[in-house]
Amino acid sequence: MDPMIEVRNLVKRFGAFTAVNDVSFAVRSGEVLGFLGPNGAGKSTTMKMITGFLTPSAGSVKVSGHDVEASPIAAKQAIGYLAEGAPAYPDMTPVEFLIFVARVRGYSGNELMQKVDAAIDRANLRSVAHKNIDTLSKGFKRRVGIAQAILHDPPVLIMDEPTDGLDPNQKHEMRLLISEMAKNKAIIVSTHILEEVNALCTRAIIIAQGKLLFDGTPADLEQRSAYHNAVTLTVSGGASTDTIADALRKVTNVARVEVSAGADGRMHVVAFPESGASVIGDISQLVRAQKWELDEISVETGRLDEVFRAITSGTSESGREVLT
Ligand SMILES: Nc1ncnc2c1ncn2[C@@H]1O[C@H](COP(=O)(O)OP(=O)(O)OP(=O)(O)O)[C@@H](O)[C@H]1O
Ligand SMILES: [Mg+2]
Repeated sequence: MDPMIEVRNLVKRFGAFTAVNDVSFAVRSGEVLGFLGPNGAGKSTTMKMITGFLTPSAGSVKVSGHDVEASPIAAKQAIGYLAEGAPAYPDMTPVEFLIFVARVRGYSGNELMQKVDAAIDRANLRSVAHKNIDTLSKGFKRRVGIAQAILHDPPVLIMDEPTDGLDPNQKHEMRLLISEMAKNKAIIVSTHILEEVNALCTRAIIIAQGKLLFDGTPADLEQRSAYHNAVTLTVSGGASTDTIADALRKVTNVARVEVSAGADGRMHVVAFPESGASVIGDISQLVRAQKWELDEISVETGRLDEVFRAITSGTSESGREVLT
């Protein structure tokens, strides 16, 4: 199956400044690609080039087999785009706005009203359908943006921070909606919420300073964490944490051990394994043999925030301004 989105050696320069620097990747139908990166990394700029809102300085984008520059209309017919901040006409109601969008998309008559109706249902806009958009809460404004993006049931969806600023319930609903649509679409979602990568994405890309630094599954990302397979013992009494730490250091494949006090004042002993190794079996045996008194023993899959920092460290927007 050919990819629905093909980005090749994409570059965007604004004057002397390079916002997107030789980025390449592909997205297939059924994939939800999480777009991660610090502020100013070039996520929105890349999305704008994929959707044809900005012309690349170099490189190319194909959507559903159509080159976005050479065949912009065919490409745009295949794309639904939720731009950053979900812009819409504030003095229209959601119904008026969606009718306008449906006309631009070439629908008329009954078919137009069916498309508008379905989009209102899908985005849960029924209760505010006839209120002016500028009077709606942020969450409903975002849903208006979603409704216009999915109105024509496009095979490709590009969403720039769809859950930004939503309350926890609305975030959950938005993720459900995206997951439902993912079955037969190729979707790109940018986000600053790292848990969203696990909740929503089949793949993640990290960019910083315009460069692609990581492309893999959420599990690949977690495996890069020092906490991948790390075992934490929460000690309740009995043996001292130093005794426990010394014993853990002797366990096969334990690379290092750290002792720390948790926010609740309880003591934690964390055993970090050699890369990729699993140490929980041996540690559990040791705990039983030594009869240590523990409140808890847990294994981690990895900490995304730590990996994100490691991959993008020194590449923040402010850092870039100092460097240039
Ligand atoms: N039209 C423009 N003219 C000049 N510079 C621009 C323009 N658009 C974006 N930039 C710059 O390009 C860089 C990338 O911006 P972009 O909006 O793509 O970042 P982002 O990854 O989406 O960040 P955020 O997470 O804050 O949304 C930034 O330094 C930004 O200031
Ligand atoms: Mg952005």
